[in-house]
Amino acid sequence: MSRMMMSHEEMRILLGQRLKRSRYEHSLGVAETALKLAKRFHVDEEKAYVAGLLHDCAREFPNGELMREAEKRGIAIGPVERVMPILLHAYIGAYRVKELYGVEDREISQAIWRHTVGGADMTPLDQIVYFADMIEPHREYPKAEQLRMLAETVSLDEMLLVGLSASILFVVQKQHLVHPDTVTARNEILMRRNAQT
Ligand SMILES: [Fe+2]
Ligand SMILES: [Fe+2]
Repeated sequence: MSRMMMSHEEMRILLGQRLKRSRYEHSLGVAETALKLAKRFHVDEEKAYVAGLLHDCAREFPNGELMREAEKRGIAIGPVERVMPILLHAYIGAYRVKELYGVEDREISQAIWRHTVGGADMTPLDQIVYFADMIEPHREYPKAEQLRMLAETVSLDEMLLVGLSASILFVVQKQHLVHPDTVTARNEILMRRNAQT
């Protein structure tokens, strides 16, 4: 951890000034949920809390500015992101944590980068932040309760498998694009599972 890193309280104050209220409260929910999951799965609790708290920090930018903010930082914009620029908030956030909050930890940065569409070789920290974003207490959608139950029962891989599948089903139903990174993350879990049996 960088010595320059702010305290949690300083991070919360700054984040609260930059995000709209509901998104700030969502962020607190993700931080607490990520912390709980980190305890259950013996993942670094400090990293889980900070990554959860700051995962949406780039939502401070209006949607119309995300493309420019990504370009400014040299972030490659893929074909799916070109159609759905909102996805860029995850990648910009991975830079923003360092720029504004002094967080130089690469694992935190990576977990923020992957929180929306997943990615290849997701670490337990990546998985925790991804799943906490789906189940934090303010989230309300038909499958939310079912997913919250999984967070207390099954393995991290099994949780993610359901979470990634739900995310893919959701975008398919809406006739949106499926991000290849989400498919990769889901396939990897299934392949790990097959290799074990
Ligand atoms: Fe997000
Ligand atoms: Fe979020």
